[in-house]
Formats: sequence, C-alpha cells, structure tokens
Amino acid sequence: MCGIIGRVGDGNALEPLLTGLENLEYRGYDSAGIAVQNGSGIDVQKRSGKVDELKESIGDATLDGKIGIGHTRWSTHGPPTDENAHPHTDGTKDVAVVHNGIIENYVELKSRLAGYGHEFTSDTDTEVIPHLIQFYLDEGLTNEAAFRRAVEELEGSYAVTAMLSGEHVLYAARQGSPLVVGMEDGEYFLASDVPAFLEYTDSVVYLEDGDVVIVDEDGVEFTDLAGNPITRESETVEWDPEQAGKGEYDHFMLKEIHEQPTALAQALEGRIDTTNERIALADFQPGTFEAIENVQFVACGTSYHAALYGSLTLNQAGIHSSALLANEYSVSAPPTDENTLVVAVTQSGETADTLSALRQANEAGATTVTVTNVVGSTAAREADEALFIRAGPEIGVAATKTFSSQAVMLTLLGQRIVGDQHGEPSADLGVLLPELAGMPDALEEMLERSDADAIASRYANSQSYFFIGRGLGFPVALEGALKFKEITYEHAEGFASGELKHGPLALVTPDTPVFAVFTGEEDEKTLKNAAEAQTRGAPVIAVCPAGHRAVDVADAHLEIPETESDLSGLLANVQLQLVSYYAADLLDRSIDKPRNLAKSVTVE
Ligand code: M6R
Repeated sequence: MCGIIGRVGDGNALEPLLTGLENLEYRGYDSAGIAVQNGSGIDVQKRSGKVDELKESIGDATLDGKIGIGHTRWSTHGPPTDENAHPHTDGTKDVAVVHNGIIENYVELKSRLAGYGHEFTSDTDTEVIPHLIQFYLDEGLTNEAAFRRAVEELEGSYAVTAMLSGEHVLYAARQGSPLVVGMEDGEYFLASDVPAFLEYTDSVVYLEDGDVVIVDEDGVEFTDLAGNPITRESETVEWDPEQAGKGEYDHFMLKEIHEQPTALAQALEGRIDTTNERIALADFQPGTFEAIENVQFVACGTSYHAALYGSLTLNQAGIHSSALLANEYSVSAPPTDENTLVVAVTQSGETADTLSALRQANEAGATTVTVTNVVGSTAAREADEALFIRAGPEIGVAATKTFSSQAVMLTLLGQRIVGDQHGEPSADLGVLLPELAGMPDALEEMLERSDADAIASRYANSQSYFFIGRGLGFPVALEGALKFKEITYEHAEGFASGELKHGPLALVTPDTPVFAVFTGEEDEKTLKNAAEAQTRGAPVIAVCPAGHRAVDVADAHLEIPETESDLSGLLANVQLQLVSYYAADLLDRSIDKPRNLAKSVTVE
C-alpha cells in the first residue's frame, strides 16, 4: 500500500504536496518523492526513507510549480531504494506517474516496451506506466488519449495519477485502489485518503472503479475509461483537520488510545435507546436477519480479533457463527449461500484480503455487511450494507480506537441478529444497554488512573511476553500480543488461557511475564492457568476489576472498571494498548510507523 497525492491550483504546489505526504505516511514510509511542473519541464525529487528525509534532501532547492504529484511508498516490487521511489518517469522525463496497487502484467508490458527501445531504471511495476503513456504519445495520440490508452492496458489494481510536461493538468484513474478528489475553488487534489488534503478542503468525491478524472485549475471532469461523462456526487467530510493531527500527544497512537471514550460515544450515538431497550441500526429493520442460518465474520489482523469478539458473542447467544481470516477464506470458506450473513470487518475498508473474501461471499449469494471506519471505502460500497463505526481518523499504524469501536458495533449488530432469530435479544438489554452507554465514562476514568506506564517499565527487557484470556478475553489476549509485538518488536504471543498447558508452558521462565485477562467468564480456571505459569517463575499481571481474587494472587495488576462480561474485555484491551505503547516508548521504537508495516494492506 502507498499514499498518492496530486495538486492543481494557484501558488506553489510544494507545501500542499509535502503536507499531503506527511498526512499519508501511515500508508507507507519506505520512500517518498514529489514531482512538480517548473515551467520548462518536470522536476522530480525522490529518495528512500521517510518524508522528513525527502524534505531534508529538498532543502533550499527551488521546486516551483502550481501543479505536482507526490508519493509515499510501502514496497511490493523492488526494495526501498532511491531508484524505486515514486514518481516514476519515462525516458524523456515528460511524463511523471505515482501509483498505488499492483500492475500484474508489468513483466509483459516492460518487455514489449523494451523491444521498442524503452530503458527502465527501477525494479518497480509502476515504471511501465509513464513509458506506456510516452509510447502512445510517440504514436501521435493526445495527452489525454495516451493516458486512457495506457490505462486500458493495465491489469491488476491501481490508483494512478499522471502529469505531463507542458500543461497544468492531472490525469487519474482508479481500479481496485482508493482515490479521492478534494475540491476547493480554484484548488483541486487527488489523494489516496482524505487526511492528505483536509487542511485545504472538506469537499470530496470518492472515485469508483473504472473512473478516469481530468483535473485542471478550472475543475474536475469525471468520465469512464472510454471518455463518457459520468456523475459523481460530492460529500462533505465531517472530520476536522485537528482530529487528523497529533495535538498535545507525542504520538498518534497515544492520542488515539485517549480518543476512545469519544469514539465509543460516537459509535453509540442514536443507536441505543436505553429507555425503550432498543437498538436502532439505520438500514436494518426488525426482521432483516430472520432467514439467516449462520454468520461468518471475515477480517485480518486487529480487525480479525474484533471479528472473533463478535463471533464469540453470537455463539454464546446460540447463533451459529465463525470468525475467519480473510486471507484464508478463498481456500477454506465454509459452505456459504443466501442464508449466510457475511460480515467484513475492516477499519480502512481497503484491505485486499478482506475485499477478496467479501467478493467471494457476494458471488456465493450471501447477504453481506461491512463494518468499517471509512465512508466511501471499497468494502463499504461493495457490501449490501455498511455500518460505520464513526471512530474518526486513525493515523497510527497500530489500530487502537477502531478495535474498540468495531467490537462495540459488532455487539450491537449481534444483538439485532439474535433479536431477529430468537424473537428476543440474547442479553437482558435493560442491563447491557446502560452498561454500553456508560462505557465512554468508564474508559475515561480508567485512562486517567491507569498504571500501565509503571507496569511497562517494571517488565521491560523481558525475553517474551504472553497474553492469556478465556471466552471474550481470548480475542483480547490475541490483540494484546499483536499490539505488543507490532510496536515493541519484542516477542509476544496470545493464547486461550486453557491452551497454555498444552505446549506454550514449555517456554515459560521468570523472564516471561504473563498478562492474564479476566472477563468474568470462568475466571477461576484462568486464575489456575495463570498460577501454573507463576509456579514456573513467570510474573503474572492480572487485568481485572479492583477486589477481584486475581489481585491477591498476581504479582501486579491493571485495574478495569466493573461491567458486564460482554464488555469488560474491551476495557482490558485498552489497558494492554497502553502497556504496549509505554513499552515501545521505553525502547524508543517508531511507534506510529512500525518497521515493515503499513496502515492498510492493499495487496494479497
Ligand atoms: O484496515 P483493516 O482493518 O482491514 O486492516 C487489517 C489489518 O491490517 C490491521 O488491523 C492491522 O492488523 C493493524 N494495523 C494492527 O494494529
């Protein structure tokens, strides 16, 4: 996955381009580059490393031009070198291109173009695009026709933006990778995601697959690939630029952890009615899920852990459901038909593995729902219905607030499904809904009083970190371990509490702290499992309410407020997020941009 930005308007494009790249860096940070029209041609500056390094390398160099494109890369084809950084140009440097996605037929295109004398200087798939455009320019086509002709030949997924020497126009096309247009009077943007230009405009158009746009100072022309005009509605984005900034926090991750009370309040707003004990989910009228015989959740990474959370709550309520890794779905999907509900859980709505599972489910005739944070995302558009978690922008690569909001949305969706199937909700909504409504305050208070920083420093420099939990504590244990390894680069594993004794116990030493999550589901058994580790010398850190029996047994504890067992795992998860954050901070890790990762992974 990569971030692309393009800008046309008055004044120098350099600043909006660099701001855009900084705001898109969560999408990839192996290398970065920009290209601007300088009056006589195209100036390209690109290099391996983060956007800051690009800025340093530009220094005082005059990069002057009203129009330009930029890119921040997460490498797929070729290592992160200066040569492989985007923008890529053709041999004459008259065409510059930035691209997000994968051109599957680039080997054939490259060898064909090489046959015509084109010389390539990078290992990337992207470099064939400017060469292909140049090839058609040499054939006598106009700039626009050459762009369209080149795009027609691309196979795979792409969001591509091209700039040609001598004119103030950007050409862009979308197929399978996100691309959004930002519009302000006289200033226009193209970008992979809204935060790229949110400081300049909140008026956006989300492009769809097959769209081609031509952007100049006078406006945006929306067409299909053949050039026929199409209509695309503009929307006003409700996120404000401050939400997309770090504010008083050192890292986006810490800010986003602290935004969870607000995120949950937004997720719940207008959706729960505690007085009448009802859940209202916009497009799902009572009875919507009556004919559903089983529910499959598909997702990856942190979203998979939220999906597992959702699936376990349904199973506990007597509804047949499973959580499946989206990247395994194509080879091991259970039987799926029109009586199956497939719920794609994806923060970004652009994860290629999840999209592929969603498409497979659509083809099988299942009813599909996407639970996502991004309005206008591919998954939101391709599912029958979308439920938005309303968490606000999440920039840190480590997912935090979106996990909590997803889990809450899945709890609401689950209750609606149970209500339709059984004629009544699984839980006593009279108890669950007030507890849900109280979650933002409970979280706020817990965040204020958390000892996670002390726990992180007490157990820093251990050899391995284990996380265990039972029932709804199990996905929390998996998520705790994922977060820990993702940002500290230390070894961490999550297990179902009862599994510890079936193998992993062999690894337990005094240098293996065990974080044990207590959700009120057979806590005595979890306590026994934790004690088995403790007997082998491992320090145990209980994550549980004050006064819980585990507090007396464990070596340390992290306190969570008392709540329903359906919800206490969510509180425990936030404490574990904080432990990971502080441990990574002590180790001086790149917390918001962990090595080798990207915020959303648009390749399979
Ligand atoms: O955008 P998605 O929720 O589909 O992303 C799925 C995973 O790549 C993502 O949850 C990843 O595991 C997290 N960034 C880890 O913190």
